[in-house]
Amino acid sequence: MNDFHHGLRPESRIVHPPVEEVAGSRSLGVPIHQGHVFAFPDSDALAEAFGGPDRAFLYNRLGNPTVRSLERAVADLEGGSGALAASSGMGAINTVLLALLRSGDHVIAQESLYGGTFATLADLAARWGVTVTRVRGDEPEEVRAALRPTTRLLYLETVSNPTTRVTDLPALIGVAREAGVLSVVDNTFTTPLLCRPIEHGADVVVHSATKYLGGHSDVLAGIAVFADAGLHHRVWEHGVELGAALDPFAAWLTLRGMQTLGLRMRRHCESALDLAGRLAAHPAVTAVRHPGLPGHPDHELARRLLPDGQGGVLSFDLAGGREAARTFVGAVRLASLAPSLGGVHTLVLHPASTSHRQLSDEELAAAGIGPGTVRVAVGIEHPEDLWADLDQALAKL
Ligand SMILES: Cc1ncc(COP(=O)(O)O)c(C=O)c1O
Repeated sequence: MNDFHHGLRPESRIVHPPVEEVAGSRSLGVPIHQGHVFAFPDSDALAEAFGGPDRAFLYNRLGNPTVRSLERAVADLEGGSGALAASSGMGAINTVLLALLRSGDHVIAQESLYGGTFATLADLAARWGVTVTRVRGDEPEEVRAALRPTTRLLYLETVSNPTTRVTDLPALIGVAREAGVLSVVDNTFTTPLLCRPIEHGADVVVHSATKYLGGHSDVLAGIAVFADAGLHHRVWEHGVELGAALDPFAAWLTLRGMQTLGLRMRRHCESALDLAGRLAAHPAVTAVRHPGLPGHPDHELARRLLPDGQGGVLSFDLAGGREAARTFVGAVRLASLAPSLGGVHTLVLHPASTSHRQLSDEELAAAGIGPGTVRVAVGIEHPEDLWADLDQALAKL
């Protein structure tokens, strides 16, 4: 880290990502090192570079200076000992799962996980002999009851999508630690500015950096952060085999976006809470979910775990059900109908007909999603303009 980092708050450190000095000075903008291979004075020095994620740069699949700046910046924010960037969030998640699991291992996973993560776990179960127990994840006792002698890993998300349930990380990770089980937490929705799972005992934190870290809907990237250097080294070795390495330009875009993460997260959180309150008062809306709302089932937990903001995603139910929701998402003008989140642009989505279309109404209900549920990933536009847009779309129902 840069010398002056010590004692600074995350919002300040993130503006000054680590950059190597060149000839006695340091570029303020992170340079893009686009070359994919590095030359050495002799074979011993080259051989030494194969040894780990902190060695000399050799070949981009093993490491790259721009990518390493991103890894060090995110590891610093999350309070980890090191990080591994990947070409997407799923690249990071697969690298971690494939490196840590072997045939016969048992995984305890929250049932509300991101669909791509669940597909990977289902595939590992169907083809590679890993067993998976799905838990709601709101009770430490439920996790304790799911433990087996073969349990290797507990997989959680800080905030679930689109239900906005908050996971009691300290309690659940505590159960895993007692049993010697590794915990992996997907912290995409909260970012290290709102929550740092390693401080609550997590072994690995993963991100779709495509979302808030990049923040501008222009880059696909993922990152895994490790509490322990040994674990980082093991997963890095597997990452080198898998080859889901991040491109230097994508790392640069992510770092460039991250410098404004502090400003953006504050705006995302404030606007989401503001819009959630206004939606709750609208006659066409039957329920609103945002952890910052006093009526939310995890509101007290959210205040404890996420004191600096409860996130930029909300969801709400329309009295008119499926048809009303489809009409609404087609009627917004400033917001866009699109399946991502975490960028500067506000996005709306009707999960029942898109991201969760494979679920029946009963399965949707079990997942806490209604046929008329709409998800809003709130961007950084002016909240009055956003409300005017949502309000005119509600008037079309
Ligand atoms: C919580 C979460 N984790 C992981 C991913 C996968 O990330 P990516 O699309 O960058 O592969 C997503 C994507 O939507 C996500 O929402």
